[in-house]
Amino acid sequence: MSRYPQARFLKSADSAAGFGDDSGVEVAFAGRSNSGKSSAINAIVGRRDLARTSRTPGRTQLVNLFEIVPGRRIVDLPGYGYAKVPPAMREHWGRLMEAYFRQRESLVGLVIVVDARRGFGENDETMLRYAEARGCPVQVLLTKADKLSRNESRSILTETRARLGQRAEAQLFSAETKDGVDAAQGALEALLDRRAR
Ligand code: GTP
Ligand code: MG
Repeated sequence: MSRYPQARFLKSADSAAGFGDDSGVEVAFAGRSNSGKSSAINAIVGRRDLARTSRTPGRTQLVNLFEIVPGRRIVDLPGYGYAKVPPAMREHWGRLMEAYFRQRESLVGLVIVVDARRGFGENDETMLRYAEARGCPVQVLLTKADKLSRNESRSILTETRARLGQRAEAQLFSAETKDGVDAAQGALEALLDRRAR
């Protein structure tokens, strides 16, 4: 049973002009390419293929917007850190992210999806700073936790929490085993309960 049976794909945008309706509230999901953003969204929403419907080939840098209930959205931000991305595309990503975080009135929180085996990186720091500049609280999902032993998971969680301090919350997550999905959904709901700017 889906947690959000009304969830639907709204649109993809490759520029600020395309972000669409800015009323209500939304939480953005950011993370490195291949970190597990789309899988995390699907696991939290409880729909196997929601975030994949918008998947575009050729590593197009798109902002994908989903409505989970009327007036409440999830935004799948384009991944970063992919080594082979040409400089022009990296610049486009930077402009797109700056426009998104500067303009989007309905943005109330950020989820940063981190592959637990890689840990919290420099680009993740950049996203955290974008959110801080907006006064948006941040939830860090250390995903693919199923690939780590219990001890490894515990130590990466401790390490990440120490690094983040008061700046963000962190939790373990797995789209595979669904560990941490309830906690992440609770965090998402808490973020969405905030008032827009
Ligand atoms: P891009 O949109 O391409 O940047 O990737 P993404 O961040 O949306 O990652 P996606 O959800 O597409 O997952 C990337 C790969 O990691 C896929 O092969 C997933 O099946 C796998 N994956 C995602 N989450 C998990 C997880 O919790 N555990 C395991 N074992 N694999 C996962
Ligand atoms: Mg994706």
